[in-house]
Amino acid sequence: MSTRRGIILAGGTGSRLHPVTLAVSKQLLPVYDKPMIYYPLSTLMLGGISEFLVITTPEDRASFERLLDDGSQWGLSISFATQAAPNGIAEAFLIGESFLDGRPAALILGDNLFYGSGFSAQLQAASANVEVATVFAQRVSDPERYGVVAFDAGGIATGIEEKPEAPKSNWAVTGLYFYPSDVADVAKAVEPSARGELEITTVNSSYLDQGRLSVARLDRGFAWLDTGTFNSMVEASEFVRVIEQRQRVKIGSPEEVAYQMGFIDRDQLRALALPLLKSGYGDSLVDVADREN
Ligand code: DAU
Repeated sequence: MSTRRGIILAGGTGSRLHPVTLAVSKQLLPVYDKPMIYYPLSTLMLGGISEFLVITTPEDRASFERLLDDGSQWGLSISFATQAAPNGIAEAFLIGESFLDGRPAALILGDNLFYGSGFSAQLQAASANVEVATVFAQRVSDPERYGVVAFDAGGIATGIEEKPEAPKSNWAVTGLYFYPSDVADVAKAVEPSARGELEITTVNSSYLDQGRLSVARLDRGFAWLDTGTFNSMVEASEFVRVIEQRQRVKIGSPEEVAYQMGFIDRDQLRALALPLLKSGYGDSLVDVADREN
């Protein structure tokens, strides 16, 4: 089990999804058959992380606590903190400094979905490397919406820019980041950007300048899904539905990942499945528990 601690950032105003998010946090909205935050939580669990801090808005904190509880049902420890206003992603490390307690960290945005073969191994490799920061990049058609990595002719990262008007490549930085134990100190040195935010891109640029940043590329067979608009929410739900029904597996299920990672045993998985049989969610958990391997 990893000593690395995980932060899930689930604040923000959700204004791009108004009026849907006027009364409900974006990261609690359904992506097909489960709340959005289950997906990033499961992603970090696959990296071997079992201690989490979930950062929400003050208004939404109670709903997240009701959903996730203290995590012990999944063999985890989950605590909660609030961000008063969306002052930037890097603020997660200022809010989370005492939670991290000098450990290496992983940060994932509560609205980022990842799915692809070989991902667990990639996550566990990034998690095991506590000397350098690791970010994940994927080629996209609209890089100006993201943090963008530039590479030299040898494929070595040379710079990262946040939402550049003239992107130097099509490689967007995803919302999943692994950092060494000094990340809170690096974040403290970040000055607000022109748009007034503590940018995670400034943290990443700082590690790059120190020669301590690894950029892992996600190939085209890998799905990094967006949930930023009404259309992309429906598309993400449809993607999950198609794979889950065709293969009778679950994508982004903390119950299933907890079992796979050995955080809970077979009997605990069965007990979690029982109250979820009525919705059908529990069926595939029973399948997993019944499987020999
Ligand atoms: O999705 C990957 C991208 O995420 C990266 O490529 C960019 O470098 C990074 O800045 C970020 O860009 P976005 O434009 O997607 O960031 P946004 O402001 O939409 O925030 C992403 C999520 O994080 C969103 O669900 C709300 C939450 N958030 C954001 C900020 C700025 C917070 O909880 N607190 C915040 O202060």
